Amino acid sequence: MARARRESPSRPPGPRGHWLTGNTREYEADRIGFLRRCHREYGDVFSFDEQTVFVLDPDLTHEALARTGHGFVTELAPFDMRRDLDQAAAQAASWMSARRAVWPGLNRSAAAGTDRRTVEILDAVLAAGADREVDVLTTMRAFTARAITEYCFGADSAAVAGPLHETTLATQPFTESSYEFPAWLPLPRHRRFFRTAGRLSDTMTGIVRQRRASGARAPHDDLLGFLIDADPAMPDDTVASTLHSILMGGHGVPAAALTSIVWELARRPRLVDSLRDEANGSVSDGASLSAAQLPLAEAVARETLRLYPPAWLMTRTAGTATSLGEWSLDPGDDVLLNAYLIQRDPRWWQRPDEFDPTRWSDGRTVPGPACLPFGAGPRVCLGSALAMRQLTLVTSRLAQRFTIWSPNASSVALEFVGRLAPAGLRARFPLARQ
Ligand code: HEM
Repeated sequence: MARARRESPSRPPGPRGHWLTGNTREYEADRIGFLRRCHREYGDVFSFDEQTVFVLDPDLTHEALARTGHGFVTELAPFDMRRDLDQAAAQAASWMSARRAVWPGLNRSAAAGTDRRTVEILDAVLAAGADREVDVLTTMRAFTARAITEYCFGADSAAVAGPLHETTLATQPFTESSYEFPAWLPLPRHRRFFRTAGRLSDTMTGIVRQRRASGARAPHDDLLGFLIDADPAMPDDTVASTLHSILMGGHGVPAAALTSIVWELARRPRLVDSLRDEANGSVSDGASLSAAQLPLAEAVARETLRLYPPAWLMTRTAGTATSLGEWSLDPGDDVLLNAYLIQRDPRWWQRPDEFDPTRWSDGRTVPGPACLPFGAGPRVCLGSALAMRQLTLVTSRLAQRFTIWSPNASSVALEFVGRLAPAGLRARFPLARQ
């Protein structure tokens, strides 16, 4: 899919933009419209400014992701604005070892144990939206935050919920704007972020200490218990910061995906009927739903992630002078990888803008490299197995137990700010008549 390599690499072409503000204002006014125009005019790789390059070629996207840690660095958290490349590399090395330790606690079989609680938490959160209209993204955030906090901290999760909520709110200004200010500037939003993140981190470190102090007397069936057992030598603050990354990765992004699922279901009553039949058929003898037996719900979740990848833009930073395909990059250059446009590119997908879950039916093939809602390479999403189970179960449960009444599903639009989701979607979730 990449073009032939030239003799010596050069900078990608791109729009010149305004002498002072560059292309930022035009981009902010219509992000996808701007990127589509640049794509048409300059091809799969184009410069946004002197330090930022957009890549829309699937192979080069996978190459940049695969080279993370080898030529490219990534920020551990979206709100970490330090541009010290050596520090970023050191931080990445310590994260990779924590990542290896925590991975078995998040993999497919560990995720399978969460099905029953996922459904119970969803039912409880949606009970509040049975007789009044709610903001769907806020409601789904409440659900995912509770689910991931319980998964990580079990019986201790109540203490984490408040500080996590405050940190999420304080993080939003960083993920929702293209304008970056150095972290040392004493802006109110920086102070608020450091204050709330510090409180969350102190709360989690306190729980880790208590758990260690309680030793084997009180075994815990949660990710914290798993991590302490898996690597007894891991320092308390490393355990806490690992769980911090999982908490942050494990609620905002899946909540955006769930909001897009609600958006589709609200506009597709026939699909909801089929999902309800599948759910009712898979439950027998009073057993509860299991994600493994819901192929249609899983296909709906996969198609939603294709059309509306919540992490629609991923960033890598060149750690050294390097090249990507035929293009040269300087140390510190940002490479922006766009899952949304790749997953809607007519070169790889037929009827790319159409919502069609049958693409994911048994026996059909999808263009794998052109579908990367969970990223790829050494920093691929840690929670993808857990997330797929959660999205599948929620899709099925929504159809089986609830009716979705949305007053504005046909008028809201996708918002390409922070996590991709239909902004302002509202709905009521009364119980469906059985
Ligand atoms: C719809 C659900 C989800 C989607 C679409 C998603 C997507 C992604 C993507 C694209 C990345 C890679 C970002 C990059 O390379 O820059 C990522 C990373 C990550 N995700 Fe997810 N994610 C989801 C759910 C979850 C859940 C449920 C968890 C926690 C259990 C989680 C934890 C993480 C973590 C910790 C990382 C950072 C991995 C690293 O840097 O090594 N994600 N996710």
